[in-house]
Amino acid sequence: MSNGILKGKRGIIFGALDEQSLAWKVAEHCHSEGATFTLTNAPVAMRFGSLQKLGEKIGCEVIPADATSMEDLDNLIDQSMTALGGKIDFILHSIGMSVNVRKKKEYTDLKHEWMMKTFDVSAISFHKLMQVAYNKDCMNDYGSILGLTYIAAQRVFPDYSEMAESKALLESFARSFGYHFGVKNKVRVNTISQSPTMTTAGSGVKGFDTFFDYSDKMSPLGNASADSCAKYCVTLFSDYTRMVTMQNLYHDGGFSNMGMNPTLLNTETNME
Ligand code: NAI
Repeated sequence: MSNGILKGKRGIIFGALDEQSLAWKVAEHCHSEGATFTLTNAPVAMRFGSLQKLGEKIGCEVIPADATSMEDLDNLIDQSMTALGGKIDFILHSIGMSVNVRKKKEYTDLKHEWMMKTFDVSAISFHKLMQVAYNKDCMNDYGSILGLTYIAAQRVFPDYSEMAESKALLESFARSFGYHFGVKNKVRVNTISQSPTMTTAGSGVKGFDTFFDYSDKMSPLGNASADSCAKYCVTLFSDYTRMVTMQNLYHDGGFSNMGMNPTLLNTETNME
């Protein structure tokens, strides 16, 4: 079902790696809601070839860019404005990668050089992207910039490791840059805190299945799917949410406000 609520909007979508990716679903929904946009990912991710196929399917130009490189970001924004024929209305930052998690280092024994790389890819890239966009003055008034995050920024999920700090940093960049972008040209900057979702980045976390299951049972609405996350992103790119900015928005089926859910207990609860 499409209502054309992004008709006439131009955007840039980072982070679609394969069909499971949150950004992939966002791209499909933005397309069906009438937006035009470019797709981007790290040059190494292009080798898999899936993104190119998505681009062909929905008629989007694919522009490689390492989100940690200011030069790549600069080129990406210039090329996107040329391809789309004007300034940008929305940007999705859907990027995450932890070197220490990949190399299975325990939280109490992390390699700090790797941690810096993790922060650069997963959080500082958001600041870099916004800085390039801000200085190029490439955003239309009432544009919308979104990053994807996880509740481990606020609560402890031991196996999420250094990604917890990455997300805390990402959310803080959204608030701080949201101020500057708001004053400059009323651009909104928010983060969506999404439920655990079966994707390449998600399932890289140790014990992800248990994690996913726990959260699904704890949330009164169950885990939010990638598809519903994409629909939420669409609303935040649309004109219906023009006054929402500098927020971390939970899209998690209610998980963030739960204390205990009886369905998680093995024995029946008896409150008497
Ligand atoms: P994914 O693995 O499909 O997407 C991560 C993307 O980051 C990939 O496309 C990858 O190529 C890209 N990337 C990595 N290094 C890059 C670089 N240097 N430059 C440009 N792109 C780079 O996984 P998913 O789950 O779709 O992740 C998207 C976002 O959603 C991430 O920020 C993730 O932390 C967040 N998120 C994921 C959840 C989950 O359970 N899957 C839950 C909450 C948030």
